[in-house]
Amino acid sequence: MIEIAPSILSADFARLAEELARIEAGGADVVHVDVMDGHFVPNLTIGPPVVAALSRATALPLDCHLMIEAPERWVPQFADAGARRITVHVEATAHVHRAVAAIRERGVEAGVAVNPATPLETVVDLLDDVDLVLVMSVDPGFGGQSFIARAVARVERVAGWIAERGSSARIQIDGGIGPANAAQVVRAGARSLVAGSAVFGQADPIAAVRELREAAGRGLA
Ligand code: DX5
Ligand code: ZN
Repeated sequence: MIEIAPSILSADFARLAEELARIEAGGADVVHVDVMDGHFVPNLTIGPPVVAALSRATALPLDCHLMIEAPERWVPQFADAGARRITVHVEATAHVHRAVAAIRERGVEAGVAVNPATPLETVVDLLDDVDLVLVMSVDPGFGGQSFIARAVARVERVAGWIAERGSSARIQIDGGIGPANAAQVVRAGARSLVAGSAVFGQADPIAAVRELREAAGRGLA
């Protein structure tokens, strides 16, 4: 019901296989992979070859969050690399619908992401076409940033639209998520929680995944 999606951005890149094994042991549902191009966000991370290596190293589905300009250019490469879900930013292309269609054509789940200061209306007309809406709770680019509280109300608004339209899209939230705010965002309607530093920044990532799921579950009670 609630998807726990640890972000490997905060993992030890020299030990990715071990880090993946830890979150699998903790019961993670998917691996969140943050792809950054140094243009859309002020950081550079990983590309298709690393995604391909990750998909060989884990049975968990790879949830690829593309923080890159004109992401439609890269959909085939990430799909071929083994992405199970590809999320593109509405701010990153004038052709979001085309990008979403390209993702789904490849049999991959499609997500659209929206930054904290971007009007939510930019996703309304996509709700029938996507599997996921990612409501960012930080400006993307780095792990370990502080949660922007306003995101809770934004999740509520998107959840309202999804219910109104009978869309099956899932709401994901990403940025500054941890046991302290997990229940609150679930109560607002989030059903996929991304967490980087709250998992890999902890002494025991296995326990951290479990703790996050427990905390998130309290939002459903
Ligand atoms: C931010 C990324 C996030 C990041 C989250 O640009 O999209 O996925 O890894 O990290 P935390 O959970 O530490 O905020
Ligand atoms: Zn992310």
